[in-house]
Amino acid sequence: MCGIVGYIGKNEKAKDVILKGLERLEYRGYDSAGIAYSLDNKVNIQKENGRVENLKDNICFSKKSNIGIGHTRWATHGRPSKENSHPHKCNKITIVHNGIIENYIELKEELKKLGYTFLSETDTEVACALLDYLYSKTNDMVKAIELFKDKAKGSYAIGALCDDDLNTLYAIKNNSPLIIGIGDNENYIASDVPAILDFTNKYIILEDGEFAKIDSDNIVVYDKENNITNKEIKEFEGNLGDIDKNGYDHFMLKEIYEQPEVTKRMIESYVDQNNDIIKDMPDLSKYKNITIVACGSAMHAGLIGKSLIEEFGNIPVNVEIASEFRYKKLFIDEDTLVIAISQSGETADTLEAVKIANKKGCDTLGIVNVNGSSIARETSKVLYTKAGPEIAVATTKAYSAQNTLLSFIAYSLAKNCKDKDKLAYLNTFLKDLNKLPVLMQEILNNHEEYENIAKEIYDKNDIFFIGRAIDYALCMEGSLKLKEISYIHSEAYPAGELKHGTISLIDEGTPVIGIVTDEKIADKTISNIKEVKSRGANVIYVTTDELNKNGDFYDKKIIIPKTNKLLEPLLTIIPLQLISYYVAKCNKCDIDKPKNLAKSVTVE
Ligand code: F6R
Repeated sequence: MCGIVGYIGKNEKAKDVILKGLERLEYRGYDSAGIAYSLDNKVNIQKENGRVENLKDNICFSKKSNIGIGHTRWATHGRPSKENSHPHKCNKITIVHNGIIENYIELKEELKKLGYTFLSETDTEVACALLDYLYSKTNDMVKAIELFKDKAKGSYAIGALCDDDLNTLYAIKNNSPLIIGIGDNENYIASDVPAILDFTNKYIILEDGEFAKIDSDNIVVYDKENNITNKEIKEFEGNLGDIDKNGYDHFMLKEIYEQPEVTKRMIESYVDQNNDIIKDMPDLSKYKNITIVACGSAMHAGLIGKSLIEEFGNIPVNVEIASEFRYKKLFIDEDTLVIAISQSGETADTLEAVKIANKKGCDTLGIVNVNGSSIARETSKVLYTKAGPEIAVATTKAYSAQNTLLSFIAYSLAKNCKDKDKLAYLNTFLKDLNKLPVLMQEILNNHEEYENIAKEIYDKNDIFFIGRAIDYALCMEGSLKLKEISYIHSEAYPAGELKHGTISLIDEGTPVIGIVTDEKIADKTISNIKEVKSRGANVIYVTTDELNKNGDFYDKKIIIPKTNKLLEPLLTIIPLQLISYYVAKCNKCDIDKPKNLAKSVTVE
């Protein structure tokens, strides 16, 4: 989603730092970019539709700038255009903004009556005018910001400059992430840590309602009540290599290939091999039911979790799309554990769902990738997925890591299980888990097989995924991955449901990926696969070593090596990720930054 980078410093590197930072944030998805920087003690603004690269042509690099703010915009209010892109300037104030000012229409009317005129359709220009008006009344930016916080409703992370003092940078935060980076004789602001990692790994996280007054040497942070507060300085633990492609064509491919390593890291962090237990688990035995809240792929991981936890842990699990959960009648209480799954830890709908669950008195557990993110801070307990920074918009390694943690939860719950069928899986769980990275690598080594399948299907208009139970959850993720990066229409269907409508869409050559990994329903799914095959579908049959069947009901077959039931989805998803990647590559799509999408969805 939108990105913010700001700079203030005696080293006068504003333009270089901001452009580099904006490039580091490109992965979040955006449609226009802009920068405001000091030039001869005036604010100079450059904005363009499209990529950050386009900005560089018209920037004056011959003179240095001590201060600036930059932005990548993902359109919410007003279409993507130069006028609507940030920064916005109104008289003495210039701002960049992430989030949504919910009462901007009323504020706009009030400001119009006070003589303000507007050039764009954005809520941000209204926020800028409001700050300018409040500054004109107070002549003091700190007071103006205090008043701004009372008037503006909604979510905002704002970087602001005031023409009267181009040696001070302001940062204001409410319900949208914003950090302050700490350098030598210079400081930075950013919506996300990767934006500043080329310059520093030390940073402060602003909380909701906080704002900061920043110059080259000092950072003064004000709390919710507008009192000066001391903040903890954090250090980023990864390294910059984590946010480079390291020779891969795309971040997505690199991240798919990192899955064995992420799994090893999770085993090291969470498994007590000597005592056969998963460390850091909350006391799961006290809950009567579990509700999982998440969006997109994280919600698909939730569906895998539901299947494993119900099957092995024997406790009912309800999976809710967070944006729906927020507005529906809820049946959760102190007996419910609410698990929020999120890679970014900043998804607005998931964050709000957590706040609602907290208010209802539920224990909340975050399964989160980004350390210290809003969801990690808001949940009563957090388990980190340790996937490292995920840059490609389409999630792969973080989704897998979410599934790994969910299998840990299912395993921990199931340990008291008396069911003989399940015991065999539980007894071998740790052994199978330790072997998993090698099996993942074996699948990755077969990449040519998936590339060849992609070459056969990349020019089709529709691609279907069918499966039952846990395989249907995998189908949903496989289908989302494919459509989001290749722009090919794709649907996932429970295999038994096709004949109630969708089968009319199957024509000669329509690709259908049929997933069969669950022995209880394997024959049923194969019957459904035969139904589409007999209507001309080009069937790619994905199954396990154990269930592998020969016959004339498929055109291509992908075999997943044998592993523990609790871990199988972690292997099955890899060919689906790679097929999606290669289909998008054949279609020459912008794989890491698919159109209209954003990495971290911080608006409702
Ligand atoms: C799809 C994808 C999205 C995210 C969703 C939630 O590849 O990445 O569907 O899973 O936007 O994001 P997080 O996990 O950051 O809450």
